[in-house]
Amino acid sequence: MSVKILAFAGSARKGSYTKQLAKVAADAAQEAGAVVTLIDFADYPLPLFDEDLERAGTPENATKLKTLFLDHDALLIVTPEYNSSLPPLLKNVIDWVSRQAAGESPLAAYQGKTATIFAASPGALGGLRVLVHLRSILSNIGVTVLPGQFALAAAHEELDDGKLKNPKNQQRVAALAAELVRVSGQLKE
Ligand code: FNR
Repeated sequence: MSVKILAFAGSARKGSYTKQLAKVAADAAQEAGAVVTLIDFADYPLPLFDEDLERAGTPENATKLKTLFLDHDALLIVTPEYNSSLPPLLKNVIDWVSRQAAGESPLAAYQGKTATIFAASPGALGGLRVLVHLRSILSNIGVTVLPGQFALAAAHEELDDGKLKNPKNQQRVAALAAELVRVSGQLKE
């Protein structure tokens, strides 16, 4: 059975570089044989996590996102870097999805998942520093984050109409996506 990958960017912005890179990587994962669901957080607006809000009732979009996480084997994540770390949008989704429902094991949406992480930024480091934080957070909640990662520097120049201009970058992204498909497929067996 094909491996199922949930792909998303940590930005809801129209024209977002990380959304464009997520599409490139998602297409590559699909070409490598996975069933890929590419989602846009703009379609799942959520309030900032607050336990009082949660007590009053989990927002429908948090439930929808958690169901998507539970329904996939692996995660393909492309994140922006905000002040050397995660954008609040991505951390907020991670937090809402992490919450335990009655009868569920803790961190059920994350445990046993495999992930590959990417970043993109107009800056010279491509968001390399956020990947350190994202890797740490995901590892702590039970996700196996594959060692290979990619940070796209000068994203405003490198992305042209949703495609990577530099063939070396395209090859690197495709290789990482294929590795995610391969490893998560093996872990699923
Ligand atoms: C940024 N940006 C940024 N870039 C970077 O390489 N390192 C950083 O630490 C930061 N910090 C930062 C903080 C805040 C609050 C904002 C709004 C932006 C710039 C960021 O990379 C740029 O806005 C990207 O275009 C965001 O990604 P999307 O929305 O294009 O996917």
